[in-house]
Amino acid sequence: MKILGFNETSHDAAVAVVKNGMILFAGHAERYSKEKNDWYTNDDLWNDALRWGKPDAIAYYEKPWLKKFRLWKNGGAADWKPKHRYDVSFKHHYSHACAGYYTSPFDKAAIVVLDAMGEFATSTVWSGNGEEIKLVKEIKYPLSFGLFYTAFTKLVGLKPNEHEYILMGMAGYGDPTRYFKKVSEYFPYTGKQKYNYHKGITDWDEPIDEQAKFDIAAAVQRVYEYRLWDFMCQVRNELLPDYDNLVFMGGCALNASANTMLWKIFDNIWIMPNPGDAGSSLGAALALRGRHVKWEGPYLGYDLGNEYPVDAIFNEIMTNRVCAVAAGRAEFGPRALGNRSILADPRDPDIKDKVNRIKQRELFRPFAPVVMAEHASEWFDMNYESPYMQYTPRCLKPDIIPSVVHVDGTSRVQTVTREQHPGLYSVLEKFYNETGVPVLLNTSLNVKGQPLLNDEEDIKLWEETYNTKIVR
Ligand SMILES: [Fe+2]
Repeated sequence: MKILGFNETSHDAAVAVVKNGMILFAGHAERYSKEKNDWYTNDDLWNDALRWGKPDAIAYYEKPWLKKFRLWKNGGAADWKPKHRYDVSFKHHYSHACAGYYTSPFDKAAIVVLDAMGEFATSTVWSGNGEEIKLVKEIKYPLSFGLFYTAFTKLVGLKPNEHEYILMGMAGYGDPTRYFKKVSEYFPYTGKQKYNYHKGITDWDEPIDEQAKFDIAAAVQRVYEYRLWDFMCQVRNELLPDYDNLVFMGGCALNASANTMLWKIFDNIWIMPNPGDAGSSLGAALALRGRHVKWEGPYLGYDLGNEYPVDAIFNEIMTNRVCAVAAGRAEFGPRALGNRSILADPRDPDIKDKVNRIKQRELFRPFAPVVMAEHASEWFDMNYESPYMQYTPRCLKPDIIPSVVHVDGTSRVQTVTREQHPGLYSVLEKFYNETGVPVLLNTSLNVKGQPLLNDEEDIKLWEETYNTKIVR
């Protein structure tokens, strides 16, 4: 049975196709429309998905009428009505849970979903046993981990529902103690928040200069981490004490700095590489399927059709220290994981400025490293794999690879094995044999505020605009 799942009407529309036990396709609307965080799917995306044939059923990722009711009751800027028809819909948090559990390697796991909100649910806990997913705990709007973070994103002048990742990056540059007490009052313990954050922070009574923005970011990140710690400990110790495995989903699971500490609570963790609402296009399809699928990796989007140009990338890096690459299928999720990436020599401290200029982005944003999985624990303080850049362990050799270390000494690591991505692994292997360093800088192939490059047309436009060659 072929099932198409989609999501619309919230900050990151997407379409996914599942057939029997396989994920055939998953792609983001923004990569086709070129409109960042596009709220609606478009014809080009649907046509790409429908190349896999006509679906037997179409599933939608939330309950539109429930959402309409909530918007009517509480207000909000969101839309509720999808532009495309569907045969069946599932609750927002259930789609998140299915996207996570049914792609996970686990047959038993605690499933935690934290986001701004679904229809009404904002935080849910589920048990996964075999193919069965059962609701264990539900916290409803207005109390929300995601809305708390989003409200402060807005307070410091960033775009809510989009720039939370920038706030997280800023946190490393701030002093968390300056506003810790004050920010804590907005979220004093896991079951309590000061007020409804839908309208943002409405009673901040101090001027916010440039340094204050960074200090607020640091305090918000710390308070978020403390509350997340309490919540996850409650899941582990009280709600589901027999469950060693965690599946973590929802937009909050994109907070890589906070995710890192979860390895102290659970034995194994799975965060699907697209844990936000876009991933729920796949989640809706999997909710209808009701069973696990074979997870073969996040390269599920538009197919450029070319082989990974290993030698050309390696030569470019050795000659120019930096190489833009576009090959194969686009990543499903916010991170570039090798197929739409800029790869660079992490040893060169000046490379950061060079790449930042290409991408026209803020200088404080950290770059991520990609490392051969078997060497990861020598270079970073980690004893787990991080194939999708979801954790930020401390870098153990910052003097050797300064350009991929954040100001707080951590790195948002991508580990790679030969099975996971043979081409990218081979590039790393060659670089390692030449330099003794099994690490490269890996950042997304886009410019600030624009979606990742997707197709041949994007590549051509990029090369003309920035006068930079893309290896492919
Ligand atoms: Fe969500």
